[in-house]
Parts: sequence; structure tokens; C-alpha cells
Amino acid sequence: MLPPTTHQIPHSLPLTLVVATTPIRVASSTSNDASTRLGIGLKGTLPWPRIKADMSFFARTTSRAPAAGTTNAIIMGRKTYDSVPKHLRPLGKRISVIVTRDTSGSVREGVLKELEARKMKMAETAKAKAQAAAAEGKEVEQNGSTDEPITDALVTHSLDSALSELDAVYGASGRLGKIYIIGGAEIYGAALRMKAVADATQTKRPVRIVMTNIVRKAEGEGAKNEFECDTFFPVQGLTPEDGWRTASPAEVSEWVGETVTGEWIQEGEVEVQMVGYERLD
Ligand SMILES: NC(=O)c1ccc[n+]([C@@H]2O[C@H](COP(=O)([O-])OP(=O)(O)OC[C@H]3O[C@@H](n4cnc5c(N)ncnc54)[C@H](OP(=O)(O)O)[C@@H]3O)[C@@H](O)[C@H]2O)c1
Repeated sequence: MLPPTTHQIPHSLPLTLVVATTPIRVASSTSNDASTRLGIGLKGTLPWPRIKADMSFFARTTSRAPAAGTTNAIIMGRKTYDSVPKHLRPLGKRISVIVTRDTSGSVREGVLKELEARKMKMAETAKAKAQAAAAEGKEVEQNGSTDEPITDALVTHSLDSALSELDAVYGASGRLGKIYIIGGAEIYGAALRMKAVADATQTKRPVRIVMTNIVRKAEGEGAKNEFECDTFFPVQGLTPEDGWRTASPAEVSEWVGETVTGEWIQEGEVEVQMVGYERLD
């Protein structure tokens, strides 16, 4: 039996929201002023064509476990889970936690079925690789080592129960790495509404954002310099007045486990930059 869910966060691991956003100018209906919103989605998918630099940053960040024998968790809304290509879900070497209001059991059933298929496929791929390596006379890597991050999935009915369940299933046995919230807007909103409450040891849980800024380069007359978006990152702003401080590139690098310079990277028609914020409470 899992512990009852409360609005308390069960332990003090940082909660890191990973998001890719693009600035969208929004005209005011009452004045000449325009404000900027941070677009994240369109029609159930990403607003931009595949951006390799961002996709691989996301994959490395979320799957890189902090210690041998641990696995990172990625918490997502059911719609974001559905937006992952079927053959890639649940994402490998991470514990996917899918949040849904479904009480019929169909979401859980579907996820568990996909988990079994994915594990089987990953095992087949690993076996084929080992056989190919052995055929070439290379040293065969040990597969299924208990130190390797695992691939697993949980289905829960709220963000609170996602955290409690992670804690109960993996935290208590020391197998939980980092906790990432990977979207979409509804789940980011739920995470941002959580209070940085202290647990029994009075330790505060830091709330962080690792954000990829995406800017579309406009070339030629009439070229579009924005992506169309219908889903937005639910923050008013990210300044100290809004309750956020900008993290230094060194801090972001430490959070994600690789060097993040904060410099703009050019790829095709876009420029991307990875930055970080920490909540001030
Ligand atoms: N740019 C990025 O970094 C990024 C990242 C992730 C997603 N996205 C985009 O964002 C869009 C999806 O975002 P979204 O806001 O529409 O959907 P979402 O947050 O991914 O999923 C919403 C669903 O999650 C479940 N849910 C949400 N809050 C819940 C709660 N408090 N308790 C229980 N269940 C809850 C419900 O599932 P049920 O309907 O099953 O009950 C709800 O319909 C897509 O376009 C996606 O591509 C972008």
C-alpha cells in the first residue's frame, strides 16, 4: 500500500522542469503593448521540426543517472506520453511516470503493454549487438548489469502521487536518480503550483527549470520568425519579481552533468540556447 498523497513533497531531491520554449509575441487587447509568451506545443506535438541539438540534450540530460545503480525519473502528462513516437516509448534507461485522470485502467494497461514490448525490443537489440561484437572477436559487454539505469514506467493520478510512488518504489531503496518534469503545460503548471514545502527533516526541495530557448531565424521578406503554438509554458515571467533567479552556466552544467555554456547554437533555421532558473522561495 502506498503512502497517502498530500501536498507535501516527500523528500528533498530537486524537481527539475525540462522544457523547450519559443518566444511568441502576443498583442494586448486593451493597449498597444505586446507581451511575450513561451510557446511549447502545437496540436499535441512540438511546434518546430526536429532540432537535433535539443533532442540529444534532452536525451542525455534525462537519461544520465547521477550514480551507478540509480535511474532518473521523467514525469509527464498523458498527452506528452502519447506524443512520444510509439516505438520509442516508454523512453529507455529512465523511469517514466505518466500522470492521468483515467480511472478505467486503460491508460495503465496501454503503458504497461508498451513497456513490455519496449523492454523486449531493447533486449533483442542488446543481444544482436553482443553477438555482432563476439563475431568480430571484440570483448562482449555485460548486459543487464544492475548498475545500469533501468527502463520502467508507472502510471499515477496526480503529481503528488507520482512523487510518493517514486519515493516508495525507488527512493527508499536508493535507486532513484534525478527527478525531471518533462511536460506538458498541465503538468508543468501542477509542478509550479507545488509549494517548496519542507519534509520531516525541514529540508527544502529546490525547483529548477532547464530551458532550451528556440528562436526561428527569419530570412527574406515576409519570412516567419515565429512558430505557431497553441500550448504555452505556464509562467508569467522568469525574473526575481516573478520569483525566479537565473542560474549561471556552471550551475546548469552541474544540474545536468555536462558543460552548458549558455551560448547560442545554430542549427538549420533555428538557434538554440540552454539556460537555467531556480525558484526563489
Ligand atoms: N516544448 C516542450 O518542451 C514540451 C514538453 C512536453 C510537451 N510539450 C507539448 O505540450 C503539449 C501537451 O501539453 P498538455 O498540457 O496539452 O498536456 P500534458 O500536460 O502532457 O497532459 C495532460 C494530461 O495529463 C493528465 N493530467 C494533467 N494534469 C493532471 C492532474 N493534475 N491529475 C491527473 N492527471 C492530470 C490528463 O490526462 P488524461 O487526459 O489521460 O486524464 C491530461 O489530459 C503537446 O503539444 C506537447 O508536444 C512540449
